[in-house]
Amino acid sequence: MLIDHFPLVGLQLTTPRLQLRLPDQEELAALADVAAEGVHDPAYMPFRIRWTELPPAERARSVVLHHWSLLGQWTPRSWKLLLTVFLDGAPVGVQMLKATDLAVTAECATASWLGRRHQGRGIGAEMRAAVAHLAFAHLGATDLVSSAFTDNHASLGVSAKLGYAHDGIERHEDQGRLRVIRRLRLTRQVWLQREHAPVTVEGLTPCLPLFGLPDHDSPNTTA
Ligand SMILES: CC(C)(COP(=O)(O)OP(=O)(O)OC[C@H]1O[C@@H](n2cnc3c(N)ncnc32)[C@H](O)[C@@H]1OP(=O)(O)O)[C@@H](O)C(=O)NCCC(=O)NCCS
Repeated sequence: MLIDHFPLVGLQLTTPRLQLRLPDQEELAALADVAAEGVHDPAYMPFRIRWTELPPAERARSVVLHHWSLLGQWTPRSWKLLLTVFLDGAPVGVQMLKATDLAVTAECATASWLGRRHQGRGIGAEMRAAVAHLAFAHLGATDLVSSAFTDNHASLGVSAKLGYAHDGIERHEDQGRLRVIRRLRLTRQVWLQREHAPVTVEGLTPCLPLFGLPDHDSPNTTA
């Protein structure tokens, strides 16, 4: 079975409203449809890579290809886990958790998008909290980092809600213009001090070697 060769297909995070997991092929198509319907106001570009400028059909295909590409490039040293986010059984967006040399760096980073009609209802915060739980409680991470343009109030709002601290800036060239990116950092220490909605993690143990970790749940975490 596929799960024997690639146990990530059995990994699932559950929050009060959401499920986060890899999609099957038809669910991937439904996710691509969500992107085709629109991810943000066309007048505002929240991404460094301007993939959402593609016409809807090409944008949808880029979601499919990006999904397969990240799985195809997976190594235990450097991985990007692009989880599809399901609300009431239907895809509404994605939440990525990624790391390089996690066993040494103990640092993960995140990225995400939601279909436009699903935004502003707390889903972004709930899905980021889900992968924060995975990183801090199960993958031995001490730090979780994020970044967003200084005028991306929704992404910065998610980070503020979860207790991230400012971690400097980056200066980015976008179509000949300067745009400033705010970096943010959440430590496990801060995360442990705060109240969180419950998150259930299933199917993790066989995935640990794929995350570059020993094949037992991290013993040095308290959560
Ligand atoms: C970024 C994104 C994933 C956030 O998800 P979301 O579900 O819209 O955000 P939430 O509803 O969970 O909001 C989290 C917090 O940010 C605040 N917030 C959300 N949207 C906001 C906005 N447009 N302006 C100001 N604050 C906002 C909310 O007030 C909330 O805090 P609160 O619950 O304490 O009030 C989503 O908006 C999105 O996909 N945007 C387009 C793509 C994108 O920007 N991706 C990130 C690139 S770095």
